[in-house]
Amino acid sequence: MKVVLFGATGMIGQGVLRECLLDPDVTAVLSVARRTTGKTDPKLREIVHDDFSNFASISDELTGYDACLFCLGVSSAGMSEAEYTRITYDAAVAVARTLLAQNPALTFVFVSGAGTDSTEHGRTMWARVKGRTENALLSMPFKASYMVRPAAIQPQHGVKSRATVTRVAYAALGWTFPLVKALFPKYVTTTERLARAMLHLAKHGGPKRILESVDIDELGHEASLEPS
Ligand SMILES: NC(=O)c1ccc[n+]([C@@H]2O[C@H](COP(=O)([O-])OP(=O)(O)OC[C@H]3O[C@@H](n4cnc5c(N)ncnc54)[C@H](OP(=O)(O)O)[C@@H]3O)[C@@H](O)[C@H]2O)c1
Repeated sequence: MKVVLFGATGMIGQGVLRECLLDPDVTAVLSVARRTTGKTDPKLREIVHDDFSNFASISDELTGYDACLFCLGVSSAGMSEAEYTRITYDAAVAVARTLLAQNPALTFVFVSGAGTDSTEHGRTMWARVKGRTENALLSMPFKASYMVRPAAIQPQHGVKSRATVTRVAYAALGWTFPLVKALFPKYVTTTERLARAMLHLAKHGGPKRILESVDIDELGHEASLEPS
């Protein structure tokens, strides 16, 4: 399976990249990001690209892929709806349209978030925008598309968030994850389980198109038990 990965420099994307490189079923990974990941691996190729609203200049290089794992995204804190929409909806839809034109048999897996508002009309700005993005992606004629909605995510294997607030919070409170997991098992997963769940969806599909935190955690656990 050939994978194109967006957001590989972020916390979730670093976790997904790690599992892609470890997975023998993944033969090639292309990272498209504003900067390089700093990783070298025979399976990994990277394109540094600045304009996430337009991929015309690199569209020829986005051909021949089986799956897109889309981990690019930001916190909406301090952002206007227009700015958050530009990074969340506009970027994902621009990527999706470009990839669909070049790869009609592609599976698209989008990292969304717990609490996403599928009605697009709720009171919470980020949830509306993520809901609109999910709905747009779900309506596009991919071979398959899946929306994963993690809640709390325990970073593993040294991956770190790009967002200072998240990085500091995880550094200060990371030791509480086992307790939080014990108290709220439905709302906690790990970067490894999330990545393995996304890879399982890309390879084999899944029982539903929108996966909540508990679905992701279970699927990621089951995927880690699969023989490679
Ligand atoms: N972390 C969590 O606990 C959590 C929980 C639920 C859902 N999520 C969702 O998961 C997604 C990723 O989260 P994360 O924690 O991995 O975030 P992160 O560590 O902050 O990484 C964000 C990624 O998106 C890229 N990015 C941000 N703004 C961009 C822009 N304007 N143009 C191009 N690339 C841009 C970053 O690239 P640069 O390196 O170039 O900045 C980086 O690769 C987000 O949509 C978030 O809402 C996260």
